[in-house]
Amino acid sequence: MRPRVVINFACSLDGKIALKGGKAFRFSNLEDLTRVHRMRSESDIILVGKNTINLDDPKLVVNEKYYKSDRIPDVAILDSNLTVNRNARVFSYPRRVVIFCRRGVEGDIFDQSVASRVEVKNSPDKVLRSDFVVQELGNMGYKSVMIEGGKSVITSFITDNNWDEISIFYSPILVGDEGIPMFGTLREPMRLGHVETEELGDGILMKIKKAL
Ligand SMILES: NC(=O)c1ccc[n+]([C@@H]2O[C@H](COP(=O)([O-])OP(=O)(O)OC[C@H]3O[C@@H](n4cnc5c(N)ncnc54)[C@H](OP(=O)(O)O)[C@@H]3O)[C@@H](O)[C@H]2O)c1
Repeated sequence: MRPRVVINFACSLDGKIALKGGKAFRFSNLEDLTRVHRMRSESDIILVGKNTINLDDPKLVVNEKYYKSDRIPDVAILDSNLTVNRNARVFSYPRRVVIFCRRGVEGDIFDQSVASRVEVKNSPDKVLRSDFVVQELGNMGYKSVMIEGGKSVITSFITDNNWDEISIFYSPILVGDEGIPMFGTLREPMRLGHVETEELGDGILMKIKKAL
């Protein structure tokens, strides 16, 4: 069965998700961090792109500072050529980490020295497509997927129509035009769906639900 896919990210008021050169910046306030960590605790698997792992080195766990839960969600990484940093912090927790790569890439890159159980899934195509990833996650039994960036992953899952809900936290910060935008190139404007907004501390949470 196809899992439910929720895309979540935080950005500046001018729609940037990172600073110049991709340098990470914490746009979330305490209220949003509480929401994000609760969402992680309720998700079966968190999905990110390889650049987010290599640039930001996120742990992708539920931090008890923000939300109390014993759950350590599994992680999926999109990484066509298996160039993800093997010393990244995401691998230091007892959980399954699934790395999706393209057809023909040799899968056995991890020894048993990391705490995570790392599995490599090759796409049947030369290009790793979000359709394959979502279908495969469903086949693996995952029911809820939380996508946490970055820009390329957000762009491909939205343009491929592989999403059910998008949560964007807007922080009252301006980054300027050298920041990394939330979205990449589009052939034409896309109408997404129904928008709900909520004040969250000094920022605004926008939830976009797909039009039925
Ligand atoms: N504010 C936030 O909430 C937030 C959250 C996360 C990240 N970020 C920021 O996002 C930036 C990274 O974004 P990014 O666009 O450079 O990288 P990304 O989306 O994290 O990763 C993109 C890479 O994933 C691989 N990939 C494989 N299959 C893909 C597919 N179907 N669709 C998309 N990507 C696929 C590609 O590398 P290969 O060709 O090697 O496979 C691609 O270059 C960082 O600056 C980070 O700080 C912000």
